Amino acid sequence: MHDAKRFREHLRLLGVDIPCDEEPLAGVDSPLVQPLTRPGIAIGNRIAVQPMEGWDGTPDGQPTDRTFRRWHRFGQSGAKLIWGGEAVAVSHAGRANPNQLVIAPHTLKGLAGLRAALIAAHRETTGSEEKLLIGLQLTHSGRFCRPNRKDKAEPRIVYRHPILDRRMGLSADFSVLTDSEIDAIVEDFHRAAHHARELGFDFVDVKHCHGYLGHEFLSAHERPGTYGGSFENRTRFLQDIVAGIRRDAPGLGVAVRLSAFDSIPFRPDPLLSHAGKPGPGIPESAEGLIPYRWGFGVSANQPTEMDIGETERFLALLRKLDILLVNVTAGSPYYNPHIQRPALYPPSDGYLPPEDPLLGVARQMRVVEQLRRKFPEMIFVGSAYSYLQEFLPHVAQAAVREGWTDAVGLGRVMLSYPEVLWDALEGKPMPRKHICRTFSDCTTAPRHGLPSGCYPLDSYYKNSPEAATLKTVKEKQSAMGVVANAGPDRPATREVAE
Ligand SMILES: Cc1cc2nc3c(=O)[nH]c(=O)nc-3n(C[C@H](O)[C@H](O)[C@H](O)COP(=O)(O)O)c2cc1C
Repeated sequence: MHDAKRFREHLRLLGVDIPCDEEPLAGVDSPLVQPLTRPGIAIGNRIAVQPMEGWDGTPDGQPTDRTFRRWHRFGQSGAKLIWGGEAVAVSHAGRANPNQLVIAPHTLKGLAGLRAALIAAHRETTGSEEKLLIGLQLTHSGRFCRPNRKDKAEPRIVYRHPILDRRMGLSADFSVLTDSEIDAIVEDFHRAAHHARELGFDFVDVKHCHGYLGHEFLSAHERPGTYGGSFENRTRFLQDIVAGIRRDAPGLGVAVRLSAFDSIPFRPDPLLSHAGKPGPGIPESAEGLIPYRWGFGVSANQPTEMDIGETERFLALLRKLDILLVNVTAGSPYYNPHIQRPALYPPSDGYLPPEDPLLGVARQMRVVEQLRRKFPEMIFVGSAYSYLQEFLPHVAQAAVREGWTDAVGLGRVMLSYPEVLWDALEGKPMPRKHICRTFSDCTTAPRHGLPSGCYPLDSYYKNSPEAATLKTVKEKQSAMGVVANAGPDRPATREVAE
């Protein structure tokens, strides 16, 4: 589809409500150049870089040349809001993989270097670092910790989850984090925020999304004690972290990236999977699990549907805590990737899309629009725009103008074409060969122990030794009948495309 008229017609036929302009606007006419201000916050435009980790740090959590290159490209994007750079673990034990960055005394120099590289690149693109807001995403990976070996999960769980525990093979006596272990993690966040402030970051994101620890607390209905049960208890982790940050890092901004809604975990449909080839995603059975007590932003009676009642309560809490910056995402890449990052081609551990990915984009956009209307004093960053491909600039500017979001967050497209919106603002045509086509190699690679990056479209990765390894892995999977995602040099089969 080459023009926005046809794309809009396509949306209409799908019954999908996504605002879309006919032409991208350049310069001062574009809503994307408008600054964004709130008390104590000044952001020079409406472009945000989402946190995008690369599974490419050293074993002790320091950045490598690849990490520097990625942050340089974040800066090159011209975005005035850098949402966290990437997930940085507050402790070794809390890492999602042995190559995740860690914030600790021995990594501070490296993290400072990343920030400096980003600022230098940003200055080159935009000519100034005025109204550039840079945050650091602080995380503990909870249930999805793998700090020591890529092939060894070391889950730190908040409560027993009937579906995820079974999938992960956790025994009946597998222990949950104790309250005092949680208190210690809260202190790790305080220390981390103190360091982030010393390094000159403007804010920290206390990550509450994608199934990681902060997010898991929000659904700890069944956990006894001070960190589970009531809404007050389930948000104690956040509240205690924020109280300590205010004390130990005064003046540092605090933000939250939130999975605003979720669904029961999905899996490939066994009836439509054959010869090891996964079928479309279907929800796990909820039999015996109603009312559903293991999700946040999920309907208790119909856990494939969202219910954002508690999400709104959570935002009211953020406002009370003087947290005005919110990044809305959804679900988890581990158990419902189509909700979190709509894609045409699944990663190697995924399933075929159970819906048109545009529905996934629209779902996230609509929730931001609803929340923004209720909380106009806050700043909202929307996610899941990469699947819009050619029409990302058309939708981004319409979304900002029509009040669907305050800033447009760019994730996967940042790996293939960081300047996508900046070029639109400069009136430059889009180089089609750099547009993210959601091949999911950026997820498939790390699932096989390789660094993330855009292997199909970014020549730096395309020509790397790891590209050959990835190709072999995918060929092996193909031979076994597992859906290997397509690439420009390997077009999707009809079956995959559908
Ligand atoms: C390779 C990769 C790395 C990611 N790393 C992070 C991360 O460190 N922290 C985070 O909150 N989200 C992370 N995400 C999620 C993205 O920020 C974003 O929400 C998602 O890709 C959907 O946005 P998009 O459609 O623009 O890609 C990652 C996604 C991918 C594909």
